[in-house]
Amino acid sequence: MTGSAMPGPEAADEGTARAAASVLGMELTSPVVVGSGLLTDQERNIRRLLAAGAGAVVTKTIHPAPPRSGSERLSRLATGMLNSTLYSHRSVDEWCRMLHSFACDDLPVIASVHADTPGELAALAERVTATGCRALELGISCLNEEGGLGDTSERVAAYTSEVRARTPLPFSVKLAAGEGTRGRAAAAVGAGADAITLSDTIAGLAVDADTGKIELGGVYGYSGPGIKPLVLAGIYSLRRDGVTVPIMGSGGVQEGRDVIEYLSVGADAAQVYSALHKNMHESFDAIRRGTEAWLRVHRTTVGELVGRSLDGREAACDTVR
Ligand SMILES: Cc1cc2nc3c(=O)[nH]c(=O)nc-3n(C[C@H](O)[C@H](O)[C@H](O)COP(=O)(O)O)c2cc1C
Repeated sequence: MTGSAMPGPEAADEGTARAAASVLGMELTSPVVVGSGLLTDQERNIRRLLAAGAGAVVTKTIHPAPPRSGSERLSRLATGMLNSTLYSHRSVDEWCRMLHSFACDDLPVIASVHADTPGELAALAERVTATGCRALELGISCLNEEGGLGDTSERVAAYTSEVRARTPLPFSVKLAAGEGTRGRAAAAVGAGADAITLSDTIAGLAVDADTGKIELGGVYGYSGPGIKPLVLAGIYSLRRDGVTVPIMGSGGVQEGRDVIEYLSVGADAAQVYSALHKNMHESFDAIRRGTEAWLRVHRTTVGELVGRSLDGREAACDTVR
């Protein structure tokens, strides 16, 4: 589960070697991956986050025909964020040009893709493959579409198997944590997914006690620190149930210790998203540096940590605090 880099003589090199991680056929210099969202809809942000040491960046979800949404908004809550956003409004052509330029620069960019039908998603995956992009994430679990998500194992299997049939690229299937996660993950793996990303946002609602007014006007995607225990539980359960494909944890990462928690319950890398809506560069830097510092102080590596809470290796590293 880790890269093969050996610690170098310099402290910085050592920190980097300890942080080496591996997902979707890519050797990452950091287990901290930037998740898909509004911030990764822009080439400049993607390049700057990679230059700042992101292990990889997942693009905003590319969709061949994004639904026209009346309002795509964010609302901050005490424990995270609600958002009613959908997919990128950039055209597939524009994304393909951008992805090709990332590929030419050998950048670890994961293209997030979705479409209205499995066949359309497979066709999109084929186009993205032709850009030289290294990996995909199927962003099939957004609950902000009209009517909500109502996901099923059958739906996950249909999308996954069509894409598998049309691209040799490694891809992760992104699921929303909740009821039936186990069945949906099994469906994804059974249909050919190389990895699972858990979790997309989870259905949430905020209501004003004084007025009864519902924030954003309905049930939308909830993210941030409030969902971390749910996602940790989901990943822990998947590992306990014998899921062995790489998992990227996504939900509520705010500091390096959160990344360590995800690795401990069996994630191979952790994505960070909502935390970056406040001071993106400073926040990202603090999370990446915090992760590396933790590994250095505890004299351990990503590879040694992955899954340690599952198999009695909790104290496998120095317990320096
Ligand atoms: C404003 C916003 C936009 C998002 N857009 C996408 C998207 O386009 N595709 C996707 O797969 N996930 C999207 N997400 C979900 C995040 O990538 C992430 O999985 C989720 O927010 C949980 O992680 P976090 O708590 O670190 O934000 C979005 C989240 C937010 C808050």
